[in-house]
Amino acid sequence: TQQQESERAAASKGRTSARGSKWLLPSIDLLAPSAHQDPPEASLDQMARHVEKALAEHGVIVEVQDIRAGPRIVRFGLVPGFLPKRGEDSGADSATSKVEPSRVKVQSILTREKDLALALKTPYLRIEAPVPGEALVGLEVPSPSPSKVNLKDVIRTEAFAKIDTKGALPIALGQDTGGNPVAVDLAALPHFLIAGATGSGKSVCLNSIVVSLLLTRPPDQLRMLMVDPKRVELTPFNGIPHLVAPVVVEVDEVNAALRGLMREMMRRYQLMEENGTRNIDGYNAKASERLPYLLLVVDELADLMMTGGFEVEQNLVRLAQLGRATGIHLLLATQRPSVNVMTGLLKANIPARVAFAVASQIDSRVILDTVGAEKLLGKGDMLLLCNESPKPRRVQGTLVYEKEIDQLVKFWRDQEGPPLPEIDMSEPAEEEWDEDSPDERMVDQARQLALRNPRMSSSWLQRRMKIGGRRADEILEELESEGLVIPS
Ligand SMILES: Nc1ncnc2c1ncn2[C@@H]1O[C@H](COP(=O)(O)OP(=O)(O)OP(=O)(O)O)[C@@H](O)[C@H]1O
Ligand SMILES: [Mg+2]
Repeated sequence: TQQQESERAAASKGRTSARGSKWLLPSIDLLAPSAHQDPPEASLDQMARHVEKALAEHGVIVEVQDIRAGPRIVRFGLVPGFLPKRGEDSGADSATSKVEPSRVKVQSILTREKDLALALKTPYLRIEAPVPGEALVGLEVPSPSPSKVNLKDVIRTEAFAKIDTKGALPIALGQDTGGNPVAVDLAALPHFLIAGATGSGKSVCLNSIVVSLLLTRPPDQLRMLMVDPKRVELTPFNGIPHLVAPVVVEVDEVNAALRGLMREMMRRYQLMEENGTRNIDGYNAKASERLPYLLLVVDELADLMMTGGFEVEQNLVRLAQLGRATGIHLLLATQRPSVNVMTGLLKANIPARVAFAVASQIDSRVILDTVGAEKLLGKGDMLLLCNESPKPRRVQGTLVYEKEIDQLVKFWRDQEGPPLPEIDMSEPAEEEWDEDSPDERMVDQARQLALRNPRMSSSWLQRRMKIGGRRADEILEELESEGLVIPS
């Protein structure tokens, strides 16, 4: 009909966004349709009987009382049964003796994990005892008919809509083991750290988070700064108005970008102070020109920490500590869950973390402070740790397709909205940070060397500090004048 026609035309152009923005939001029709299928009930029942039988064969009596089928795994809720009593007579005696029959111990289920794995023909069992909030032992088994979670499956749910209306940065993460949508407000987390082995789904997760935001937040409400040393994961977003600068791909440009963010943060603190408010929401309610939220997205944190050194960590920690009030949030991903990337300081300041599949229990502990991620299936299977529960929650991440990203990026690139306020990321004039300039730091390093080697030569200094001859001569001259080096 005509009405449908016009609706479709409007959809392809976009929706008007809430909160008084003049920008149009993309229609969620550009997302791929849901591909979800429920696994056949009969096969799940059959699996449940199989679990009961396999455990009974080892003398562990359980009853499967609850079956939850998620996209990738099925969770069986086991209730420990009663052990048959020895030497029990039928008749009046047993009624009067009142011996309580004893329950199967949870521990005896846990110790049968390997036997169960063998019976169910899968190495990927995870047992949760108990399931939080329920009197069940959860046995998680890969689903016989796994399905993908498309972004649309989560975006069009009420859970997401609620966070979209109430929260600042709504993100569609995936579906839990019961198939329930998992959506959170990134601003409330207030930062997010993602880790997992190669191919486990980190970049897909980052992309689906960014896409969730691009579907719901215009650039006058949210700006982003992206860092992608691999150059392929986030660079497709180049050209959207949300970006404060093109995607940073050179690792040695990252420190400058972080300093830019820190300056913006301090500027915002000053603005808020002048206007007598304490956080971005308060400020925006009062001020004539609203401040957008600012999200830093980093794919492959390890590369930065290795090359950028201590300064990167220091800046990230400061942003994590102080950013929230000013609307600055961090979204960081890393392949290497080693302690020199996920440092204690960083972890302490980023309580919300996700572990995708990892190689070992040790890796899992580094990320989540608990084991479990070594038993994940890969490809978007994650354990989510955030403030709402002390135990991690198992979630299958949303999958976002290249085509969806392309269309979304095109939508935003083509839109000519009202002008956006500049967020200055360029380096300020030299003198502001002269003390910390690389030059000054190099001389400092040479001073340290001179303390132990007062007779050091130019060529020795060149080798030790990997610098050129002219630079080495200059430094030597300075140190000589300071009396730290004995002239040759
Ligand atoms: N949520 C998901 N649903 C379905 N498939 C997924 C999902 N996440 C990832 N995959 C599959 O796994 C592949 C690898 O994912 P991804 O590129 O995100 O891994 P990664 O963790 O970033 O790896 P690397 O550390 O090597 O960059 C994807 O190309 C996709 O095929
Ligand atoms: Mg990746």
